[in-house]
Formats: sequence, structure tokens, C-alpha cells
Amino acid sequence: MPENPVPPAPPASTSTSTSAQSSAAMGARRSTLLRIVVVLGAICVAIVALSAIPGWVSARELLGEVRNPGEAAFVAAHRGERSVAPENTLPAIQAAIDGDFDYVEVDVALTSDGHAVLLHDDTLDRTTDGAGPLAQHTLAQVRQLDAGAWFDAAFAGTRVPTVDEFLVLLASSHKRGLIELKGEWTPLAVQAFAASVHEQGLGDRVAIASFDARTLAFMEEAAPQIPRLAILRTLPDDTVAAARALGVRGIIASSKAVLRSPEVIEQLHAAGLRIAVYTLNDDAKWQRALELGVDGIITDTPHRLRDWLQTEAPDAG
Ligand code: G3P
Ligand code: CA
Repeated sequence: MPENPVPPAPPASTSTSTSAQSSAAMGARRSTLLRIVVVLGAICVAIVALSAIPGWVSARELLGEVRNPGEAAFVAAHRGERSVAPENTLPAIQAAIDGDFDYVEVDVALTSDGHAVLLHDDTLDRTTDGAGPLAQHTLAQVRQLDAGAWFDAAFAGTRVPTVDEFLVLLASSHKRGLIELKGEWTPLAVQAFAASVHEQGLGDRVAIASFDARTLAFMEEAAPQIPRLAILRTLPDDTVAAARALGVRGIIASSKAVLRSPEVIEQLHAAGLRIAVYTLNDDAKWQRALELGVDGIITDTPHRLRDWLQTEAPDAG
């Protein structure tokens, strides 16, 4: 038997290794816990963010039931209430909001530096004291202009509104908006606009309309939940197929186009789509539009149309 056998590994070292293992295990547990907390936190943030974005809005929620011939159509005040204030300005929009109408319609176009403002024409000449194309003026330049004096001296000093000013005003009311994006928009400009609509919580209270199919497609990409309408001056051979291809809830058509092909109304309705017509300003035209069963009428005289619907229209009273 050896006199001094090599002692077995000291128990102390075993205990050091055990405690190292257990602290490693604790560390692993802590990091797993931390990961779980981080993932749960991210899920909570996602839920809050998603709940702030409105869901898909149906044609019925947005524009009401399909109208039968003779039933009242919705009323949209064209470019705000432009019979009492300069079109597409805050006073006109406030007047439309204060009136008993369903929608306020406005035109939105881009400045040379990509800001969205309310203006109908390509140029500044008719509705401001400026001149030349809007697309050749910066926002700062456009904001210097007077957009009210041309209409009436009482409106002198009225500015061309930014789209954000319009959205804030609309959000402060319970009214709905038909927002026409004029011209051809870029994906970036559409994204910024969609973000503003969401920011004001208006995703389920506005319909975005455009003559331009690419702008509508960019809008769908940026915010598929915000409803869209295609504006058509003339009708294609198969309007329902065109509307489906664009993924819109319906169309806004010129009254001439609809009078040429009135059967389109029934076709759109059968497909669950809606149709509004522009721009009708007298009783005879309103009467004809209602007889055909259009869902909405865009008019420069919304007060008169509202009164007419309440007193003289086929199903008045
Ligand atoms: O909403 C459609 C209608 O407003 C299109 O006509 O030229 O007045 O913008 P316009
Ligand atoms: Ca318009």
C-alpha cells in the first residue's frame, strides 16, 4: 500500500464546479425569463399598435345600403360647401361639416416639395392670388398665397390648407370625407398621407378617391384598410371587373357616363359595390339620379339637395 496515496480530487473543487453549474443554470433561466418578458412586451406593443389601426371597412359601413330606385342618396358637399365659402378652404370645409350632409368632398394635390394641400386645379391662378402650376411651388410659397379674396373680400387672408389641417378639422367632427387625390402621387407621398389619416383616427370615416389607377394601387399598398373609390369620367366595357381589379368599394362616375349606361348601377349593386355621381346641381338631375338608384350625389349645392330630398324627392317624408 503506498504510504502517501494521491488524495482524490478535493471535495472543495467539486463544490466549486457544482456552484458554477448552478449559477450557469440560474443565468440561463434568467435569460430565458428575460427573453419571454421581451417577447411578451413586443406582443403587447403589437396588439396596441394593431388596435389603433381600423379594420376593413365594408361598402355598407362606409356608404350605406345599396339604394333602390327612388330611395334617397347620400349627399356629398363638393370641394367643401363651395356655394358659401371659397372651395377647398377651411371655411368651406367647416360650412360643409356644419351642414346636414353625409360627406365633405375635397381635392388634395402635391406641391413641388411633396406636401399635400387642398387645391382643385393644376394651377394656382383661379383660386389664389398666385400663378402657375402648383407642382412648381413649394409648400412655403403656397402658404403665402391668399385663397379667399377671389371668392369674396370677407375671406381675404384665407390660406390654402394642408391636408393635415383638413384631417384635424374632419376628425373633430362626426362627418365623413371623400378625399380625392389629384394627379399622380408617389408611393412616399401616399404613405405620408395614409399615416396622417391613421394619426387622426379617420381610417373608417374617409374614402380615398382618384382618377389615377396607380395612385389607388399605392394607396392600397400603404393602407389597405382605408377604403378607396375609383373616379371614372367614362365607363369601361366591364365596370364591375375594373372595380374589382382596383379593389375599390365602388365608383364615382360622371353623370354623363351613367346616363349613357344606366345598367351599370344594377351591375355594381349586384356585385356589392356602390356608385356616386358628380356633379349634379339641379332638381331634374337629382330626380333622374334617384330614379336610377344611385347611392350618392356629389353637388355644389348640398343645402338645396338636402332640402329637396326632404321635401320633394320621390320618397320624401
Ligand atoms: O369626386 C369626383 C369629382 O369631384 C371629380 O370632379 O373635377 O370636381 O374634382 P372634380
Ligand atoms: Ca374632386
